[in-house]
Amino acid sequence: MNERFEHATVGDIVAADFRTAGVFESFGIDFCCGGRRSLEDACRGAVANPEAVIRALEALPPATATDDDATRWPVDRLIDHILARHHAYVRSATPTIARYLAKLHEVHGARHPELARIATIFEQVSGDLEQHMFKEEQILFPYMRDLGERAGQACGFGMSPFGTVENPIRMMEREHREAADELRLIRELTNGYTPPADGCTTYQVCMAELAQFERDLHRHVHLENNVLFPKAVELEKQSVGA
Ligand SMILES: [Fe+2]
Ligand SMILES: [Fe+2]
Repeated sequence: MNERFEHATVGDIVAADFRTAGVFESFGIDFCCGGRRSLEDACRGAVANPEAVIRALEALPPATATDDDATRWPVDRLIDHILARHHAYVRSATPTIARYLAKLHEVHGARHPELARIATIFEQVSGDLEQHMFKEEQILFPYMRDLGERAGQACGFGMSPFGTVENPIRMMEREHREAADELRLIRELTNGYTPPADGCTTYQVCMAELAQFERDLHRHVHLENNVLFPKAVELEKQSVGA
């Protein structure tokens, strides 16, 4: 195996170059919730040929100076980016997709009975994500911002209401897995977001929006699980040791 990828986890590879996310997606490799696995393990899980995956990774043109490297961002900037880019997106996309699904169920439900289940699952995942983001915004992210601000100060850091930051992180990671599982189910029920031959324009748009929603969730979860959370754990350890 190429030594650049031999000891790296899939999450590390995406963190170092975000464009690799598209390669992993094309091979069905989970880089967000399952991002802590080696490339070899992840390929085995997705039944993908590691040589083919590495060839596709190596075929990416060299990264340009303008490609953002979120791993170097301070916690504050990462959180700002996650809120502006991903939390705002989830809040703007969910009512639109729910509206499309209601319309499709009404018009095509007789010939496509799976639409009722898809709409129910989407309602569930939207509600789950709203509560999840609320917890991050109100409790976890403010604590992480504090950790970032106090980094390097000699005063150390007081106890948080939840003990170590690893406790809420475990809960957030479990919720990420649940949301990803719900969207995977929608992907399977829609045959990979493929509109049927008799599907109208709304059907096509709705499938494209759902595909985008899942893609965005993968990037959102990746930035939290593989970039932000490890940084916060490290900052907390430093502050406790200060
Ligand atoms: Fe989030
Ligand atoms: Fe999250």
